[in-house]
Order: sequence, then structure tokens, then C-alpha cells
Amino acid sequence: MTDAAARLDPHFEIAEIDRRLFGGFVEHLGRHIYDGIFEPGHPSADEDGFRTDVVELVKELGVSTIRYPGGNFVSGYRWEDGIGAREERPRRLDLAWHSTETNEVGLHEFQAWLDRVGSDLMLAVNLGTRSTQEALDLLEYANSDAQTAWTDRRAANGRPTPFGVTMWCLGNEMDGPWQLGHLDADDYGKLAARTAKAMRMLDPGVELVACGSSGRGMPTFGSWERQVLEHTFDDVDFISCHSYYQEHAGNAQEFLASGVDMAKFIEEVVTIADSVAAAKKSDKRIMVSFDEWNIWYLHKEDGTESGHEFKGGAWPVAPRLLEDQYHALDAVVFGDLLITLLQHADRVRSASLAQLVNVIAPIMTEPGGPAWRQTTFFPFSITSRLAQGRAVRVPVQAATFASETLGDVATVNAVATIDDDGVSLFVVNRSTTDAATLRVDLEPLLTALGRELEVVETHLLHEEDLYAANTLDDPERVGVRRAEASVDSSALSIALPAVSWAAVRLA
Ligand code: AHR
Repeated sequence: MTDAAARLDPHFEIAEIDRRLFGGFVEHLGRHIYDGIFEPGHPSADEDGFRTDVVELVKELGVSTIRYPGGNFVSGYRWEDGIGAREERPRRLDLAWHSTETNEVGLHEFQAWLDRVGSDLMLAVNLGTRSTQEALDLLEYANSDAQTAWTDRRAANGRPTPFGVTMWCLGNEMDGPWQLGHLDADDYGKLAARTAKAMRMLDPGVELVACGSSGRGMPTFGSWERQVLEHTFDDVDFISCHSYYQEHAGNAQEFLASGVDMAKFIEEVVTIADSVAAAKKSDKRIMVSFDEWNIWYLHKEDGTESGHEFKGGAWPVAPRLLEDQYHALDAVVFGDLLITLLQHADRVRSASLAQLVNVIAPIMTEPGGPAWRQTTFFPFSITSRLAQGRAVRVPVQAATFASETLGDVATVNAVATIDDDGVSLFVVNRSTTDAATLRVDLEPLLTALGRELEVVETHLLHEEDLYAANTLDDPERVGVRRAEASVDSSALSIALPAVSWAAVRLA
């Protein structure tokens, strides 16, 4: 057992939290759409074929803005394939995931699903096999209220009023050699700037995201951001970050340092964006859209990569792809990633958990069968619900461990949020060996508030078996239980078992 100490001072404010920090991502990939959110024959399906059990779980998860329709998929997508009479829509090869896309679900159906779950649409345009004109066509179709050929078509397809999409991604992972239409930073920067300028001429209200690196480990990371922003700085609002984490070779301790890697990634991107601003003598601040983050067992033990199962003659419809089963350890790391995003709420103004249903997802479904919550569901739903108002830094003094790549890493990490009704604290114990008691000095907070606080809600995610998971046969094996937390003499004490994540609400 070790002791850790922290101080909760409301003057350590980071920023007002943008709700878009709790976004999600839905890609036409595997069983995400088909046999995931859309399964017309399912007993819970509504009149439009959407599974209502999945809708309820997505609502409980609490996702704000949802990025769509990809991902790698978008770089070969013709958005017009997904509008108009369903029986006339073409079946197409999806080169990114070696699958067949039936186009039964497109923009209108996805918006109808978003209306059910209460989330906003964030669209990505195809800058892989297509260019500025097709992006403009989609923007006009989605957002224009003028009477044009595209908006007439939209009305004929049942939507006279615009969709009103605010956030737009200028392509996806264009730095990745795997991406259809992959470009170097100079070519992408020019294309993104041209497209952004044109999109703003059509709709000045859009918020635009330029592609950053698809990982901190990319060989072009850093120079990519700099060159892309040198071209696009005046025309975009965000630069994206993508990052997936996994345990390698059974090294749980190293895996538990993932939050530190994510923090470095954000801070490095912010530094580069601000250096471009300085060179341009501009006060403008480019924000980060961390629009793909999660745990993903991308690199398999046998040396292959997840998602590359079908490289032969088969082009299946809705194959089982990227269906990672998450365990308790994954959920603790995942909770720490959410803490890290909140710690950077001043510059991370949008983030998308990648993804939502069946595909590296917090929600799993079985065709004709049940839907259930994976372990990662809990830190997301709890943080999204309790993290309201302003994010506040909580400096922690704790033991450290030596990471192989990230230097000394604190075993305990925390962040707080303060809103009109109370205070929430989110904490992780990254140690694989030692439980910790975290004592948080509340004196500055109580003085500022001028009133007492008591613990009204606690959650602890911890399992003796780090690899315990929720499955079709045992869907409630892992959940959250009450954390041991109490306030006494202006201090909050929380008991944190080794490898645990906790949330405490004070009011
Ligand atoms: O989320 C899965 C894939 O990961 C996305 O399609 C791509 O953008 C990233 O490489």
C-alpha cells in the first residue's frame, strides 16, 4: 500500500469542457452498421430497421458528436451511393476493408439514427479518391438552404431542411501509406487548404479539421503537422490526432503508461500548431480534434495486423472485423485516456471514441441476439455524465515507475471537473503491484465555494483478474462497484487497488 497526495484548487482551471470531447465514431466497417446498429430482422428493430436495444445503450453511453462514415472507408466512398431509393443503390467494393458495401444505410438513415440516440453528426469528406468538387457537392446537399439541384434532390429524398452539419474532416489519415489516395504533407496540405477555402465560400459556419498524423509513431509525425498547417492554418479550426493503444507481450505496466503517451502527443501537436501561428504572427489557436482514440489490438501476436483478414477473392458483406474483446485492464487504461483528454480540455475541443458498436467498441451485439456493454463502456458513460462544467488540474504526488519509452511515470493520475451542482474527480492507479490511498486536500476548493461537500456517488473499476471480460455468455462479468471514498477534515480519501480506475462525485 502506498500513499498519494493531491490538492484540488479551483484556481487550477484548465478550461470549460467542450461536450464534443465525448464524441464517438461510426464507420462503415465490419458489423458496425449492418448487424450492429441496423438489423431489420432483429426482434428489437424499429420500423426503420434500427435496433432499439443498441439505441438505448448508445444513449446511456452519452456520446455527443459522432464522426461518420469513416475512417479508411471514406477515402473510397461515393456519398451519392447512399441517397435515394434504397433498391436502386449500388453495391460497391470497399477497398479499405475488403468488403462489399450495400449502401442500405447512407446520410439520411444515419441522421435518422442520430436523432434516436440524440447525438450530432460530424462528417468526413473523401480526399482519397475524390477532391474539392465532391466535398462541395456533399456540403451543398447537407447544409444549403438555397434552392439548387442538390437541395431539390435532398428534398425529394425526404429532407427539405438542411442537415446543418458543423464539423467536417478534410479526409482521413492521409499521411498513412495504407490510405487510398495517400499523399505527402505538401500535396495534402495544398488540397486541404483549397477544399477548406471552397467549403467556407459555400458555408462560412463550418468548422474544419485537417488531418494530422495517424499516430505519434508515424515516421512523418511532426513534419507532417508543420507542413499541413503551413498550408491550411488560415482555413481550418482543428488538426486531428489518432492513437490506439494495446498491451504488448503481456507487459501490463508499460500498457498502463499509455495516458502519458497520449498527453505527449497532444502537447507536441499543440506546440507545432503554435509555432506555425508564431511564424505567421497570428494569435489564432488551432485546436486538437482527437478524432480516433481507443484500445485496439491492432498488432497481433502472430505478426499480422487486425483488419486484414480478407485479402483473397472474398468480398463479404458485414464480416466480423476488429471485434476486440476488452478486459478489465483495458478499461483502466481507457479511463486514464479519458482523464488525459480532460487534462487537455483547453486545446482538445473535440474527440471521438473509435468506434461504437461491434468494431473496437464499447457495445457488442449478436445477430438476432442480445447487445451488451464491454468493460470500456463504464469509464466512458460515467465520465461523460459526471464531467460537466470546467476541467481542473489536480497535481498528484505519488510513487513512480520506469516506463521503457516514457521515462518516470506517476502511478496515480487524476483530474477534476467543477460545475454549478458539484465536483467530480476521476482517478487511476497505474501500478500493477501496489494499492494506493489518495488523499485530496479540499481546503482551497471549500474556501472558494464557501460550503461543505459530501460524497454522493462513487464508482470503482477493478478486477483481481485483469483479463476478466464481458462476453455473449457472461455479459455482466465486469462492471463498476462503489469505491471506498470519504471526506474528513477538508480532505477526500479514496482507496485505489492496484490497476483501478475510480470516479467520485461530491455535492
Ligand atoms: O478505426 C479503425 C481505423 O483506424 C480507421 O478506419 C482508420 O482511420 C484508422 O486507421
